[in-house]
Amino acid sequence: LNFRNASFITSAAKISQLTSDGGAEVAFAGRSNAGKSSSMNTLCVQTNLARTSKTPGRTQLINLFDIGQDCRLVDLPGYGFAKVPLELKEKWQLALTEYLEKRESLCAVVVLMDVRHPLKEVDQMLLQWAVASDLPVLALLTKCDKLKSGARKAQLLKVREAITVFGGDIQVELFSSLKKLGVEHLSQFIETQCYR
Ligand code: GTP
Ligand code: MG
Repeated sequence: LNFRNASFITSAAKISQLTSDGGAEVAFAGRSNAGKSSSMNTLCVQTNLARTSKTPGRTQLINLFDIGQDCRLVDLPGYGFAKVPLELKEKWQLALTEYLEKRESLCAVVVLMDVRHPLKEVDQMLLQWAVASDLPVLALLTKCDKLKSGARKAQLLKVREAITVFGGDIQVELFSSLKKLGVEHLSQFIETQCYR
């Protein structure tokens, strides 16, 4: 796979508007502002592949990116953001749920959580759902540059311990787009899942 040559394919509000459902897709999911779009840009060494913003709720559609060999990255709208008008929120949360439940080519999920606020109720629901759906998960503790090295290691161990209750195939790693940390784990995970 060639992450550096990743290119935007399409945005859609419904899965019926997406390109054909073949090959393999790895979706990036997590609460609004967790750093989904940023991590995708970091992985692909591109600054503007996926649109990022300091205002939560930036990504409102399902965005597909081509990484070659019929494999795609999927930037999903964030969940759990309260300050968005309900109508709009319902619309894009519907798209998110529809994507997760119906997309056949979805082969694995990257769940992004701010290292300072991991495993919120919605994150736990997503993890539970992924395990029940037999989807391998890489949980990334994002923005780890915000914590000192000791504190971030402690968080990593804490989350690894806590996720054992979910069973299933869940790996947990630290990640920072700012410091380019954890990028190798992310690319390895995607390679493994796409060629599975
Ligand atoms: P939505 O699309 O709104 O759901 O958000 P998102 O999860 O795609 O988050 P996005 O990548 O847009 O990043 C949100 C904010 O966090 C931006 O201001 C980023 O610059 C910041 N951010 C992302 N990754 C990092 C990181 O590794 N370190 C730090 N310090 N800030 C980060
Ligand atoms: Mg985004």
